[in-house]
Amino acid sequence: MMAVPESREPEDDPADVSRETWSSPDVDTPIGAEAERAVRLMQAATQGQPPRPARQRILTIANQKGGVGKTTTAVNIAAALALQGLRTLVIDLDPQGNASTALGIEHRPGTPSSYEVLIGDIPVETALQRSPHNERLFCIPATIDLAGAEIELVSMVAREGRLRTALAELKHHDFDYVFIDCPPSLGLLTINALVAAPEVLIPIQCEYYALEGVGQLLRNIEMVKSHLNPELDVTTVVLTMYDGRTKLADQVAMDVRAHFGDKVLRTVIPRSVKVSEAPGYGMTIIDFDPGSRGAMSYLDASRELAHRGLEEQAR
Ligand SMILES: Nc1ncnc2c1ncn2[C@@H]1O[C@H](COP(=O)(O)OP(=O)(O)OP(=O)(O)O)[C@@H](O)[C@H]1O
Ligand SMILES: [Mg+2]
Repeated sequence: MMAVPESREPEDDPADVSRETWSSPDVDTPIGAEAERAVRLMQAATQGQPPRPARQRILTIANQKGGVGKTTTAVNIAAALALQGLRTLVIDLDPQGNASTALGIEHRPGTPSSYEVLIGDIPVETALQRSPHNERLFCIPATIDLAGAEIELVSMVAREGRLRTALAELKHHDFDYVFIDCPPSLGLLTINALVAAPEVLIPIQCEYYALEGVGQLLRNIEMVKSHLNPELDVTTVVLTMYDGRTKLADQVAMDVRAHFGDKVLRTVIPRSVKVSEAPGYGMTIIDFDPGSRGAMSYLDASRELAHRGLEEQAR
């Protein structure tokens, strides 16, 4: 059982620094630390690391629990990789369109989107949009039309494999990374995403009931693997919204690491108000506030993800 949290303090207290992600013994003022982080981020951009994966990587970001950081993780890891020189695509597969909003991508009704791609009305290229903030970052947006897709897909031929078929057309685009942001459900949209990708990334919020429902998610992944996509594997787990002031967050992190072992990234994403403010400006935290702890943690997470992938592909 999980421990009861200690009393909470206001968010973003200076003490709320991800112990696992960021600490510098040489910098003892918040402004100094922020400046140093911004410099690190700019260096990452100019150094152009990490290297490209040998083969395109497609990751489905799934957890049927709502509000655990799926979209935030998708857009920020994608933006961090693009900043470092990699061609990256985010496919918004959630009718809420949160990933499209966070990337500053047009997604009014009528915009060519993941809905038309899934239903087969348009070639996938027609729905591609480039980020206003990074020329290497692209998005296939979601409009509200996607809300009807779960039902429309039911009667369609090869309904679980439609996204996979559509994505095959994208091979000329040379994307290094494709992230598919799923809605908080295990319906046909999420199943399409699981069929289309070899890798699953599960974000887990460092809160009460963190692992609730994960068993069901894993059973669904196993089912898709045995019937529809033998390549499928959970390769990555990301701990999100970590609040270092609570014992609960540590307890959850320990439970998740005990459960998933080395699939869990060492980098932990801290809870930070700025991360939640960025989408309101149509920006990722990488563009909105490059000197913030949130930006640095997503940069670190992106590098870890990229380096692990290279090791895997080398095997
Ligand atoms: N590290 C963070 N610090 C503070 N707030 C965060 C952080 N990560 C995400 N949030 C906020 O938490 C809320 C849920 O995050 P997000 O939308 O990424 O989750 P989700 O799993 O995609 O949700 P849904 O299931 O509705 O699609 C959002 O308001 C987001 O801005
Ligand atoms: Mg979301």
